[in-house]
Amino acid sequence: MAVMDNADTQAGLSMRDGSAAEFPQGFLWGGATSSCQIEGGYGLDGRGDTLYDYLPVSKNRYAWYTEGNHLTQDAYYPCRKGIDFYHTYREDIALLAQMGIKAFRLSVAWSRIFPTGEEKQPCEEGLAFYESVVDELLAHGIQPVVTILHYDIPLALIERYNGFASRQVVDLYVRYATALFDRLGSKVPYWLTFNEINIMEHCPLDAGVRDLGDDPRETIARTAHHQFLASARAINEYRRRGYTGKVGCMLGYEPVYPQTCNPEDVLMAWNSERQQLQYSDVQAFGRYDQAVLDGYDANGWDVVHEGDLKEIATGSVDFVSFSYYSSATVSADPNAAMERGNITYSVENPYLQRTQWGWLIDPLGLELALLKLYDRYRLPLFIVECGLGVRECPPADGGPIQDDYRIDYLRRHIEAARCAVAAGVDLMGFLTWSPLDMPSAATGEQEKRYGFVYVDADNQGCGTYERSKKASFDWYAKVIATNGAEV
Ligand code: BG6
Repeated sequence: MAVMDNADTQAGLSMRDGSAAEFPQGFLWGGATSSCQIEGGYGLDGRGDTLYDYLPVSKNRYAWYTEGNHLTQDAYYPCRKGIDFYHTYREDIALLAQMGIKAFRLSVAWSRIFPTGEEKQPCEEGLAFYESVVDELLAHGIQPVVTILHYDIPLALIERYNGFASRQVVDLYVRYATALFDRLGSKVPYWLTFNEINIMEHCPLDAGVRDLGDDPRETIARTAHHQFLASARAINEYRRRGYTGKVGCMLGYEPVYPQTCNPEDVLMAWNSERQQLQYSDVQAFGRYDQAVLDGYDANGWDVVHEGDLKEIATGSVDFVSFSYYSSATVSADPNAAMERGNITYSVENPYLQRTQWGWLIDPLGLELALLKLYDRYRLPLFIVECGLGVRECPPADGGPIQDDYRIDYLRRHIEAARCAVAAGVDLMGFLTWSPLDMPSAATGEQEKRYGFVYVDADNQGCGTYERSKKASFDWYAKVIATNGAEV
């Protein structure tokens, strides 16, 4: 048997030289947003309350709601104001169009369409608003990518049903999704059923669940199943209507590294990763892993009902989308200090730096993410969030913010994506989080800024809300104009 020497083994690495690779024609360069972070327009035109209307600016903002403070206290609630996109969308879209973006991801606020989630008929003002946003995008040659639910479930569905822990909410979601398809189906080419469907393991309120019951593991399994079922039914409704767009799942994905080559660390890393992937497995393969179903049976959990698996099988997705902010690193040592990133907990990784918010910066992790997801699913992939949140102040001389750190961050991630494309990954697009500054989802801080466009507002909602371009605005315009050849 021939034994490879060191030089031969390096050949594997040379395969990742993506410098000559081109992004495919029609690559969807753009940016992503969510209704509860940009719209504002609180209570306008019949919009009902959502969870995010009651989350203040705080590192522990979800506890504020679960502890019942929203009933007795008042505070500044940043998502009621967002960045006022409800009123400024025309100007904002015109500004982003100057960058030449090809795609813009927005989400619909369920409570603008069905204020409590339970009405029989959709609210015309809500539908008209989103149709107008979509028309505005199309008029600028920008493809809308619509997320049906990005966290802001109507408050009434949390209080009455405990969100997706209840099976009734599946039908309510499908009625809502169907109303969107009936109005926007012929105009919107890309749909995502749930944002970061796996995040509810860490933040159950994002699936509307405020009570984890006696056995939180069962509640999480049931909630996840109801979301899979809701997604599949919605996809089946979409296809039944004959629309020809594509519907994807959306995973909050962090590849997981073992801290050492101790097999205990390696196994733990792989299991932690499988924990994330089991969500996209169901939606992409259209079936559960049999071991998962056997586990439900063994525990006596009432999760899957007759007929559900058939619906899930026919309602699998056309593509797999995901957010990418960082990798995570785990250790089997029970005393290792763990810190929360966006999705998972991680021990220190001495090879990586952290953002001002402690998130690990790991461009190569994106390449790895793409390779792993493509190897697993062999479906088109779509990066629908990637970006750097930092504190920024406009310079005193009135010039643009020189956000070289953002350019560097995005450049390195785009290069990593290019290497994955060179290795054969079918990649649909790259959407940054987010083209405009907006309140953070996790903490509500406006001052955690991701945009190419600065929005003049602070954490208390004070400011003019005027928009101004940062240096990265022109840089991203050039990236798009050259289809990624010049980064
Ligand atoms: C993603 C969410 O997980 O992370 C976005 O889908 C969110 O809604 C983004 O904004 C960044 O998180 P944060 O808390 O910095 O806004």
